[in-house]
Amino acid sequence: MGIALLGYGTVGSEVLRLMTENSEALEHRIEGPFELKGVAVSDASKPREGVDPELITEDARSLVLRDDVDVVVEVIGGIDYPRELVLSALNAGKSVVTANKALVAAHADELAAAADANNVDLFYEAAVAAAIPVVNMLRRSLAGDQIRRISGIVNGTTNFILDAMDATGADYEAALAEATRLGYAEADPTADVEGHDAASKAAILASMGFYTRVRFSDVSCEGITGVTAEDIEAAKAAGDTIKLLAICEKITGEDGTVSVSARVHPTLVPREHPLASVSGSYNAVFVEAEGAGDLMFYGNGAGGAPTASAVLGDVVGAARNKYLGGHAPKDLTYADLPIADPGDVPTRYHIDLRVHDRVGVLADLARTCASRGISLRTVRQEEGYEVDGHEAARLILVTHTAREHDLADFVADLKAHDDVLAVKSVIRLAE
Ligand code: NDP
Ligand code: HSE
Repeated sequence: MGIALLGYGTVGSEVLRLMTENSEALEHRIEGPFELKGVAVSDASKPREGVDPELITEDARSLVLRDDVDVVVEVIGGIDYPRELVLSALNAGKSVVTANKALVAAHADELAAAADANNVDLFYEAAVAAAIPVVNMLRRSLAGDQIRRISGIVNGTTNFILDAMDATGADYEAALAEATRLGYAEADPTADVEGHDAASKAAILASMGFYTRVRFSDVSCEGITGVTAEDIEAAKAAGDTIKLLAICEKITGEDGTVSVSARVHPTLVPREHPLASVSGSYNAVFVEAEGAGDLMFYGNGAGGAPTASAVLGDVVGAARNKYLGGHAPKDLTYADLPIADPGDVPTRYHIDLRVHDRVGVLADLARTCASRGISLRTVRQEEGYEVDGHEAARLILVTHTAREHDLADFVADLKAHDDVLAVKSVIRLAE
């Protein structure tokens, strides 16, 4: 069984280390021998430890097509170039293992079709929450159940930042700087802090959970850059914590139509909810299923060795299937549900306002709320604020569940209201 490794960075180098250290056990599990045939990198002149220099090549295109390669492991990252390599490998009859969520979330249709057409496997356990076996759980273990909702902390960098803000009272910039210093956040943290990384994972989870193709572009996404120390403090006061959640669920519209919603946004989570206790850079995925009830999967969602663990699990599966003739479960999209209009999603808002501190303001805002059909669950007022020289009160409104577009209209009304000096933040609450 010939293996080609594309990429020898954080993940690729750990794949090879674990593959080498555990080679005997892996051969038993694969039920046959395997051999690494080559390692593709972008710069072959870089000094590298743990790999035979003879195996290094800059020509990934040729490596995947070699006759003696049966399984291709893609851990390069990016979208266009790995897409070309993965398609080329699948079309040449090689099974593929990838950790690349951006690639899978953008091009799953095309990749799955190529795997099916060529009777080979496409595995991507490591693409969602690295070491936590959520893809296999959805593909295999819960294949007999009906999933209602999947809510996950699927990005370690943002969880580290929010947890640090919660634990120390630090503001976003200070917590990001600490995450960078400790090596959790990359030099360019945009994909993490803007929620794009979590959105790719949400697309994959929703596709698997609801047997419907959900693409990255179908996921509505808000990152954590707008979360302030004041928001965290208000969350604490309400007995909540703020987490960046990827939420995938089935929505039933007013006309009875069932659709799939996948979204990523900062969310107020009650402290007693299992997801609230997920600290540091850990990930967790909370699944609500009809038969199984509530399940939570927790662990390392990033890092070289945890990701390599998931990659190697897939390598064993792909190589075994090649030896013994089995197949990975297909990427089924038979339900083909429509993607929900983000405006139709039922949610609850926590709105932090500064208003003129004078008689009648609260009553007037309550009328604005009623005119939009929004019901308030709690109202909290604090005095002693100032905005642009005006004496102000802080009002924290928590709504009951309403459709996102009605809540957004209500917030627009608030922004235009004469007595509202500032809408400081709007954060959604977990169901
Ligand atoms: P790195 O940037 O550390 O490594 C990328 C590797 O790909 C490097 O070895 C690089 O070569 C090689 N490479 C880049 N361009 C090319 C090219 N054109 N041809 C051949 N090789 C190339 O990335 P990571 O290991 O962190 O991530 C890899 C994948 O795993 C990504 O898809 C990522 O999303 C995913 N992933 C990563 C996790 C993590 O914690 N790091 C967690 C889960 C998934 P060179 O060494 O010469 O620079
Ligand atoms: N940047 C990602 C994270 C890596 O912080 O979780 C794992 O996908």
